[in-house]
Amino acid sequence: MDKDKVINLLNQDLEDEHGAIIQYLTHAYAMGEGEMACEIEAAARDEMRHLDWLAETIVELGGVPSLERGKMLMGGEAVANWMSNNVLLEKGAINQYQEHIKAIDDPKIKRLLERILSDEEAHRGKFEHFVEKAQKKGVKDIRGNRQDKITQTLNWGIEHEYTVVLQYLLHSYLSPNKDVKQQMEDQAINEMQHLGWLAEEVVDGGGNPRIEHTEVDRSLKTADMLRADIKIEREVAAEYDRAAKEVEDPDLKKLLLRIRDNEIYHIDVFSDLLKEEEQQK
Ligand SMILES: [Fe+2]
Ligand SMILES: [Fe+2]
Ligand SMILES: [Fe+2]
Repeated sequence: MDKDKVINLLNQDLEDEHGAIIQYLTHAYAMGEGEMACEIEAAARDEMRHLDWLAETIVELGGVPSLERGKMLMGGEAVANWMSNNVLLEKGAINQYQEHIKAIDDPKIKRLLERILSDEEAHRGKFEHFVEKAQKKGVKDIRGNRQDKITQTLNWGIEHEYTVVLQYLLHSYLSPNKDVKQQMEDQAINEMQHLGWLAEEVVDGGGNPRIEHTEVDRSLKTADMLRADIKIEREVAAEYDRAAKEVEDPDLKKLLLRIRDNEIYHIDVFSDLLKEEEQQK
């Protein structure tokens, strides 16, 4: 099989990992605190590792990791129905990985897909168990439909954080500069944390987190990436600052200021990297 075909198959897998991450995070946030929510979040973290491995492999082959979001099964009224959907999603993933393992010759890539496959089999078992457990324990969707200004601001934050998680991961995969790679990955993880804090805040306040993203910068030169990243950080740091001044709840104010300070730190880190990058040229 030629390289381009392998890249296509791996990008298909990557897109489905992306879909699974969002499906599971949505479930975990909707259930609030609790053991099951924690375990679902852990499954989402496994899928993030898979996404990372697949993306790195695609780049090694000379490809560009896809940012499309693959299959998601988001229907269902009760938590037990969601868990059945998760079982179906895992079954689909298992079938697809088995097919791709058969189709791909490269032993290293085969081994990687087998490694991922074993996680998906474990997830399927977990979710099968959760179908029953959700029924027995009466686990509920605790989201409400609050849609006031604060909820809108928090959902704006989620949209931003999701966008930069994707953007920084892409930049981390594509930049040949080792320091940039490392920092981009670290800051993507930090933005993922922000996303989680904001989503939990929306749910605690009686709202429904909207996990969608806007356009991601797809620059190919490291300096261009950093310029785009600094620009977006400046905009959102100002926006979080403005939002923090507007809200009255002291805990929420503290949260928004904490995120703002992280964003300011990102601006400084990226600015230093840009200076170094420009000096090297
Ligand atoms: Fe999985
Ligand atoms: Fe952030
Ligand atoms: Fe940031």
